Amino acid sequence: MEPHPGDDKPHAPTPSIWPVGFAVGIACILAGLVISRPAVIVGAVIAVVFGALWARDAMRGAREEPAPDVVEAQPAVAADEGDEPERYPRNVFLELTTLGLGGVITAIVALPIVGFAILPAFTEEDPSGVDLGPIDNFPEGEFVEATFLLDPSKGEVSRRTAFVRYNGMTEGQPSYTIISNRCVHLGCPVQAAGPRNEEEQEQIDANGVEVRLTPVLPANYTCPCHGGAYDIEGNRTAGPPVRALDRFKFSIIDGNLFLNETYSVGKVEGEGATAQIHAYGIQGPGEHVDGLSGWMYPIQPEDLES
Ligand code: FES
Repeated sequence: MEPHPGDDKPHAPTPSIWPVGFAVGIACILAGLVISRPAVIVGAVIAVVFGALWARDAMRGAREEPAPDVVEAQPAVAADEGDEPERYPRNVFLELTTLGLGGVITAIVALPIVGFAILPAFTEEDPSGVDLGPIDNFPEGEFVEATFLLDPSKGEVSRRTAFVRYNGMTEGQPSYTIISNRCVHLGCPVQAAGPRNEEEQEQIDANGVEVRLTPVLPANYTCPCHGGAYDIEGNRTAGPPVRALDRFKFSIIDGNLFLNETYSVGKVEGEGATAQIHAYGIQGPGEHVDGLSGWMYPIQPEDLES
């Protein structure tokens, strides 16, 4: 039996799924960077395993490639017999298809994630936040309940409350404790348990936003929905909430106090300006932020503003 032309040549490595697995692992890492730490770990494991298998196959193929032999010239029988010469080996086609498919999957998964991660830096946002008026409205060591419309275009549905206390100056910087009233169980509005001085309530117009400021003297904070309770620094003390109350970042611009984005808190040690705040990125109600539960909790939806 006559050998088929080309049978004496080494075959290229067989197409494999390793590149696809590697691409999926990289995609998981990228997705995990945005949504979940466990996804980063899973992606890294997948990428390392499939990458190692891919590299092993590639090295094996390189080792098995023999030195070029001196091949005797043979008559071009194929043309004489009317056979069509193989112009594009099937194994090369399959390998390129596999790599291309892996690249497409990676692009489909990664591009939106990279876009969402990068685009906000190029979009215009109001960096100042919610204007609560002059800092003189907040006497040192006293809580003031501030209610305001987070988005005036949405009306009362966007009304939010923050409990604000000026803690004095610390290392030349003003210190404020600003606690969100969104219960971290299911999101009901918590209330300050203590006297409210309605007579000294002020309504101010801060750059077109109506803000109501009411002096309060809370002993703690309570939630009317399921009995959740928090201490004066927002630490959970009773009921179903799973962490401390969220807080607002702040800035001072031209003598006015501005509320910036919220962040979540595992717990607060100490009080006022010297408190140690275990801070995390903003999370949804009911979500743990520390310990094993913080790692295991499922992915949260995007809209988590308080
Ligand atoms: S929503 Fe506050 S305790 Fe349930």
